[in-house]
Amino acid sequence: MSNPVLVPENQQFIVVVPAAGIGKRMLASCPKQYLTIDNQTILSHTINRLLSHKNIAKVVLAINDDDAYFAQTTLVDNANIIRVSGGKERVDSVLSGLQVINDMEWVLVHDAARPCITHDDIDKLIKQCLVNNSGGILAAPVVDTMKLAIKSNANETMEVSKTIDRSSLWHAFTPQMFKTKELKQAIEQAQVKGLTITDESSAIESAGLPCILVSGRRDNIKITRPEDLVLADFYLKQQIEQNKG
Ligand code: C5P
Repeated sequence: MSNPVLVPENQQFIVVVPAAGIGKRMLASCPKQYLTIDNQTILSHTINRLLSHKNIAKVVLAINDDDAYFAQTTLVDNANIIRVSGGKERVDSVLSGLQVINDMEWVLVHDAARPCITHDDIDKLIKQCLVNNSGGILAAPVVDTMKLAIKSNANETMEVSKTIDRSSLWHAFTPQMFKTKELKQAIEQAQVKGLTITDESSAIESAGLPCILVSGRRDNIKITRPEDLVLADFYLKQQIEQNKG
């Protein structure tokens, strides 16, 4: 039997947080990360969850150069937040964050719009990646029946083309964790090839590198539409009651 790999209790990591999006689908008057839940911005909830984890030392936060909201938050004076300029797409914001990380073997990336991330899930991801010596992502198997959609010829409505086998489909969440150098190179190569990169794993996949799926909680939602705010509020309160926050 091989020796178990021990995860050092005090190993410290940096998390890149892309937060330069506008969040058009929220139909709000400000970028969604600045909407509030319980008098705290979504961005604050997310960053507080990350920085209160025992293995997370710093957050590299990518925000828009024209962002007028961040300066008004309490996060502005936090010495554990390194601010960088966000880019046009999420992947540009992530790459901008990776450029300031030089001496860390591993890096985590977490969406600003996922405030319900729990310490247990972060523990699980870090442990699984270190034990397997592989990049990985929090994810969950798809539970609904999945349909491939096509636009109908008659009008603008969408119709079902066919049902997709869901047995090997998973929802990809964040955090996602990879070797810093490999992720940086994978993103740069994908950009040269003109590939569409919607998460870090897509870049790693295109470079032919492995990525493990670490089963995560389904309440780690990405706030995307107005109804998600109420849900996130509920989950945050539930998690605090259950000491998961
Ligand atoms: O829009 P969506 O929810 O997919 O964005 C995911 C995350 O990426 C959000 O935290 C958003 O702020 C961030 N993002 C970014 N730069 C962009 C677009 C999105 O940092 N240009």
